[in-house]
Amino acid sequence: AAPCQLNGLWRNDQDSLMEISVSRDNGDFQGQYLTRVTLSGGCAQISPLKGTQQQLGDGGWPTFAFTVRWDRFSNATTAFVGQCFVDADGKEMLTTTWLLREAAESLEQDWKTTRVGRNIFTRKHTTRG
Ligand code: BTN
Repeated sequence: AAPCQLNGLWRNDQDSLMEISVSRDNGDFQGQYLTRVTLSGGCAQISPLKGTQQQLGDGGWPTFAFTVRWDRFSNATTAFVGQCFVDADGKEMLTTTWLLREAAESLEQDWKTTRVGRNIFTRKHTTRG
């Protein structure tokens, strides 16, 4: 199995976009995230993401994790964990599970601050497709 490259532009099933632009030899990566949906229903801003991907030697698809800081429009934070897959046609897919932490106004509200969900990302081609 060829290693999945996280570098590039991705779109998920909610129509959010993410671009992973800096990827280091040790598996660490950075990028930008533009979410199509927000908790408030208001406009999103491009938000920084940071993560790390496993470096696998022989076979198997790599797992990764990244966080997104939404602080240009929200106090929330999201952590994604996922795995990169390539199908028989060479199409890459990132299957992820996320935790979205909303800021509580008080400790009493802490219990209801965290949502969980899934997103699938596919590569967004800018020239064709
Ligand atoms: C906020 O609204 O306060 C922050 C934006 C949260 C967007 C979430 S993160 C998980 C899910 N996947 C997306 O692409 N967007 C939503």
